[in-house]
Amino acid sequence: MPHKDRLILALDLNDPDHALEVVDKFSEWVTTFKVGLELFSTAGPEIVRKIHDREKKVFLDLKFHDIPNTVSRAAVQVARLGVSMFNLHASGGYEMMRRTRDAVVETCLKENIPRPKIIAVTVLTSISEDEFRNEMGFQHGIRTHVRHLASMANEAGLDGVVASGHEVSSIRKKHGKDFIIVTPGIRPSWSPPDDQKRTMTPRDALRNGADYLVIGRAVLAQKNPLEAIDLITLEILSS
Ligand code: C5P
Repeated sequence: MPHKDRLILALDLNDPDHALEVVDKFSEWVTTFKVGLELFSTAGPEIVRKIHDREKKVFLDLKFHDIPNTVSRAAVQVARLGVSMFNLHASGGYEMMRRTRDAVVETCLKENIPRPKIIAVTVLTSISEDEFRNEMGFQHGIRTHVRHLASMANEAGLDGVVASGHEVSSIRKKHGKDFIIVTPGIRPSWSPPDDQKRTMTPRDALRNGADYLVIGRAVLAQKNPLEAIDLITLEILSS
């Protein structure tokens, strides 16, 4: 895969005009832009259309987590927007994932539209092992939980998962090369972790087997974002 297809730039911004300026500015380095809760809450579906007008792909990161009927119906609307990828929480359960997949496949076939990749969020990269056990009350570790959720997503017919760089190699080993792994919490050696706990450098995440790297603040919060993306691109090329 060309290096610019591996990078997904997170447009964690609240001004649609600024977001589109960022898309234009990084167009040479990035194929897919991530629209998440903040931007979608202010700019709505229109921002997705405007990014598509610029011939760029959109990963719609709304992390659906609700009952099967609600998520599958929302997912059909997302598919109609033409995004290349969207996500839901694997912890919403097997039925929620399966019904979402079936509804999206059926709609795309019926309406002759390309089917978006459906990706399951496993355990957020901002959660530490300590929080996972002591706040959330799990008896087992994050890695075991992520493996379990990834298997459930695979059985439900989803295309892949969002997982931290620390869990990538075991998921890759178990589910093979076609199962998509999207990795956020990416931090080059020169950038601070912020609120992310299970971070990894771009090079290590790719070496472990990640397909796509989601990058936000390591580029957009830097003094010189273009220099930051250049450094990350070089790191990707050398991995
Ligand atoms: O700025 P930073 O690179 O930490 O941003 C990561 C982006 O990836 C954010 O937009 C966040 O919502 C998203 N994300 C994440 N962890 C997940 C799924 C998505 O950090 N499990």
